[in-house]
Amino acid sequence: METISFDLLTLACRDRYKLLAGLVIPRPIAFVTSVSRTGVVNAAPFSFFNMVSTTPPICMIGIDPRSEGGLKDTALNIFERAAFVVNLVDEALGPQMSLCSTDYPAETSEVELAELALASSEKVDVPRLSAAPASLECKFRQKVEIAKDHFMIIGDVVQLHVRKGVIEETNLRTNLCQYRPLSRLAGNHYATLGERIVLERLSFAQRKAAESQKC
Ligand SMILES: Cc1cc2nc3c(=O)[nH]c(=O)nc-3n(C[C@H](O)[C@H](O)[C@H](O)COP(=O)(O)O)c2cc1C
Repeated sequence: METISFDLLTLACRDRYKLLAGLVIPRPIAFVTSVSRTGVVNAAPFSFFNMVSTTPPICMIGIDPRSEGGLKDTALNIFERAAFVVNLVDEALGPQMSLCSTDYPAETSEVELAELALASSEKVDVPRLSAAPASLECKFRQKVEIAKDHFMIIGDVVQLHVRKGVIEETNLRTNLCQYRPLSRLAGNHYATLGERIVLERLSFAQRKAAESQKC
């Protein structure tokens, strides 16, 4: 199969971003709430985000420097308070999430601008977004410095809140029609859930048994 190959280390930053962020898709969006030293509640979206483990429950967020250099407010707040909340994003929350990605000055509360209602968290001193389909209360665990003012932030998820209806309470399965998660593609493009398919995962023993039944 013919391919195009790139030496990522010699590419311009912009092209590297376009290629990697455009291909590693769709990405979930962490709409992170954090609190500044002076008590301003900050909210900003991050799609270099994922769970990295469920036992123990750990997530990570990749936070670049501000374009003019220096830490983004979210990184600064997490380092100061040692806590944050990852609010997951559904279709309804999309426009407010996008509004909060503007590089407002630190003293501006995106939460107020976007008219986002807050709810108290249980284990961290950072509020969560009432409208989020799910919120993960996180305690700061570790930072990995990727470059100057650029960090991978790792957090322990210590409490989970899920909007009623988003999970089936009898078996804890996600009700996707109720959830309607939004994911990030490249640039200003987002995706909703499309058609779903089922691919059965068999153990080696099940696969052998299935094959032995073939004539
Ligand atoms: C959907 C989406 C995903 C984003 N993902 C990231 C990301 O993973 N890392 C990052 O540094 N910035 C990301 N940004 C940009 C930040 O949201 C933006 O820089 C924001 O102003 C940071 O706010 P803060 O300074 O209040 O932390 C993303 C923006 C959008 C709209």
